[in-house]
Amino acid sequence: MTRLKKGLRYYYKVGSDNGGWSKTHSFVSRNGDSDETTAFMFGDMGTATPYATFSRTQDESISTVKWILRDIEALGDKPAFVSHIGDISYARGYSWLWDQFFSQIEPLASKLPYHVCIGNHEYDWPSQPWKPEWATMYGKDGGGECGVPYSLKFNMPGNSSEPTGTGAPATRNLYYSFDVGSVHFVYISTETNFVQGSKQLEFIKRDLEGVDRRKTPFVVMQGHRPMYTTSNERGDAPMREKMLEHLEPLFVKNNVTLALWGHVHRYERFCQLNNYTCGSVGPVHVVIGMAGQDWQPIWEPRPDHLTDPIYPQPERSLYRGGEFGYTRLVATKQKLTLSYVGNHDGKVHDTLEILASGQVLGVNGAGIKAVDSSSGGAGEPGVIGDSGESTFSWFVKGASLLVLGIFVGYVGGYVSYARKKAGTGNNWTPVKSEDM
Ligand SMILES: [Fe+2]
Repeated sequence: MTRLKKGLRYYYKVGSDNGGWSKTHSFVSRNGDSDETTAFMFGDMGTATPYATFSRTQDESISTVKWILRDIEALGDKPAFVSHIGDISYARGYSWLWDQFFSQIEPLASKLPYHVCIGNHEYDWPSQPWKPEWATMYGKDGGGECGVPYSLKFNMPGNSSEPTGTGAPATRNLYYSFDVGSVHFVYISTETNFVQGSKQLEFIKRDLEGVDRRKTPFVVMQGHRPMYTTSNERGDAPMREKMLEHLEPLFVKNNVTLALWGHVHRYERFCQLNNYTCGSVGPVHVVIGMAGQDWQPIWEPRPDHLTDPIYPQPERSLYRGGEFGYTRLVATKQKLTLSYVGNHDGKVHDTLEILASGQVLGVNGAGIKAVDSSSGGAGEPGVIGDSGESTFSWFVKGASLLVLGIFVGYVGGYVSYARKKAGTGNNWTPVKSEDM
């Protein structure tokens, strides 16, 4: 839509006199004069169906939509947008699942722009045109869609396109960028050619060099498959190598602030990275593929226990979450904040703060590891396979808690007794549970 007035709420209906009209919806247009940026960002959300089906669906996506809707309502008349970075509906060739998906996101997509980039589940198929010999990870994840529904159902900025090689319409919406408030957002495709000599790499190069950092001090890069993850996704290792070789030098040279990835269905926040090394150069990498799809590879095993399920958190990984949810990006000219909201309580579980100077703050401390105590399951570092020492330490902790509990109970009982005695003369009443 063009020629919209800045930061204004528009009301609209869709339909026709013959086919009937929708109810009235509204959205707030982008405000080019404002420094503020608000975005809801996640990957791998998928679709839920209200009935059993032969196709695996993603029930958690309902909660993700619900909590984002709460946040949009809280924003009032501030504009915002959604960023869904690949593995969108998991329709994988079933058109009715796309329909189901669009119905599910309608409460969001009718109120704000819904941006996407392509994931393996929209695209990958053995006959896809670009398949270098190292791309062993390209399988049948797209279910034969070959990016066609993705290209026709969405209309993203830019004019990137690659031929499908099948006579079907070209694959579109591959790479593009735009400014919102104080942030320059770039979307890339990890499923099509991004190596030296590709149109995409040329685009990224030109785009990053052209950013006016006085206007947008922050640059946020987004793509589907992660450049960094500590999940044990061995199949993607050759791709990560190519990303490190061809993309990372551009990210580092052009001071990209933040790199957001999906594909791994967990939240994982890293330090500022350059060639696997934490430091003060390179973007902070965060994996945000926790919006709904529940399948999850295990974390990296300990290097000297390759066959044992021991998952220590490497130095570069500062926070691993085990909960479904999404991230909320809020930025001004001075500061960018990324918050990880968990679906079970709708609360913030991790926060990352980056100043316009490039300094990374991080509520948990930039270099300090944090583990989400609410997250459980097999993916948690150092839980499974710990030795008897930890059993013993749990026994000691349990015994200590028991002693503490008896003591608190005794004191609490006495205080309650004394209070009751003072209040009611000589009448003694038993301590009730609600007194404690
Ligand atoms: Fe994926």
